[in-house]
Amino acid sequence: MQHHYIVVLTGAGISAESGLGTFRDVDGIWSQHRLEDVATPEGFERNPTLVHEFYNARRKQAAHANPNAAHIALARLQADYPGTVVIVTQNVDDLHEKAGASAIHMHGELKFALCHECGHRWESPATMHPGERCPNCEQPAGRPDVVWFGEIPYHMDAIMQHLRASTLFAAIGTSGEVYPAANFVDDVRKVGAHTVEINLAATDGLSRFAEQRLGAASQIVPVWVNDLLAES
Ligand code: OAD
Repeated sequence: MQHHYIVVLTGAGISAESGLGTFRDVDGIWSQHRLEDVATPEGFERNPTLVHEFYNARRKQAAHANPNAAHIALARLQADYPGTVVIVTQNVDDLHEKAGASAIHMHGELKFALCHECGHRWESPATMHPGERCPNCEQPAGRPDVVWFGEIPYHMDAIMQHLRASTLFAAIGTSGEVYPAANFVDDVRKVGAHTVEINLAATDGLSRFAEQRLGAASQIVPVWVNDLLAES
């Protein structure tokens, strides 16, 4: 086995072929909505109806989406590889889980609601409304359990430990424009991990990753996973 500790970071690109939109591509989510309006605590304070509508629509879309060959290949890697395989995702959909993998959701999950008064989390209803009542403290303080700009991503201590232990790091379908995830490649290079970027199009990642595999995730990830399993 060439690598005993693999960390895979995924972004919206891995779910694109499952019909879920990416953010920064042409026609991406941020070309249709203002990030400041729907993905910041200030936006939620200003107009909770708009923010709930945005996430209700995304929750509905994600509920009907199926994992594609890339999610399925990563689940196979996690199940069959003799070393450790940790998937860290920036995605708020549950396609890794639907494929049978477990993933660390650093930007939260659409399927949960969070109380901004007491911090309680619960399974989100399909449609959330302004003033959604927390089942724990009963305050009308429910919000989607997603990390917004200006907030600290989840599970960072655990993620940093995995990155420090990694011998192979792959970033799949992410533009590398959002921090701290964009820095992970630099963190793992410091510990000598091999780095691979898998993306539809060439990004400036070439200067930061040792290896780049270009193409649709559903095509490239299964081949990459087969290579790893064949070597193991
Ligand atoms: P982006 O939309 O920024 O980037 C998606 C990347 O996926 C781009 O580099 C595309 O080239 C690539 N891509 C598109 N289709 C692909 C395919 N079929 N196969 C492989 N790659 C493909 O999405 P993220 O990098 O995930 O955060 O964005 C990071 C964060 O920014 C998100 O988690 C979200 C967003 O604002 C918050 O909302 C807090």
